[in-house]
Amino acid sequence: MRVYRATDYSDMSRKAANMISAQVILQPDCVLGLATGSSPLGIYRQLVEWYKKGDLDFSEVTTINLDEYAGLSGDDANSYRHFMKTNFWAYINIKPENTHIPDGPAHDPESECIRYDSIISARGGIDMQLLGLGHNGHIGFNEPGTAFDKDTHLVALTESTIEANRRFFEGRDVPGHAYTMGIRSIMQSKKILVIASGAHKAKIVKAAFFGPVTPMVPASVLQLHNNVTLVGDEGAMALI
Ligand code: GLP
Repeated sequence: MRVYRATDYSDMSRKAANMISAQVILQPDCVLGLATGSSPLGIYRQLVEWYKKGDLDFSEVTTINLDEYAGLSGDDANSYRHFMKTNFWAYINIKPENTHIPDGPAHDPESECIRYDSIISARGGIDMQLLGLGHNGHIGFNEPGTAFDKDTHLVALTESTIEANRRFFEGRDVPGHAYTMGIRSIMQSKKILVIASGAHKAKIVKAAFFGPVTPMVPASVLQLHNNVTLVGDEGAMALI
């Protein structure tokens, strides 16, 4: 595992955005695994800026997102598809048909998971997966206790995740279920880029990367991957 210490959120975002840029420049038709949450926002802003300067071209890039709330359509302001559109895709030249995210309102969850996994395999797997860390160590929406050998599946969110994500919902109920790539899908990515910002992530960064590998801390499985880069700012790295 490579570890990069950044001074603050914007330094973390720029360092991680540089790594994603290198991936896109060296392999213009790469498959990027993308994440939502507050952590990657600065990366998306930076990539948009470089795109606008003419330094990046996303016309051949495919993106496959980690997760989506069950029941929310892509037009819903709280859906992750909407998040991705309004924070990233709308500002770059990615082809809409090359952007993938689970279909929240899908009628048959089982077929939706199979459909999603087949998109990943049809594209030859994910070249670089971006990951944030939940407070309880979740990656995507793989909550503590999830078996390491799962592909895309429907999960019941834990109370702590529902609470942590309530800030985005402005009084609305946070959905109780979500589709997420499984740990196996994530572990099959060729490269994994983990970002962490803020002192509130310090404990989980330590547990995930320097504690025992256990399904109780889903991100700890990343210690077993052979190409992981962690970029954390001072707060998040305070216990390392
Ligand atoms: C959500 C997402 C995760 C994300 C996590 C942390 O639960 N499903 O993919 O990593 O939040 O979010 P933040 O970056 O806002 O701390």
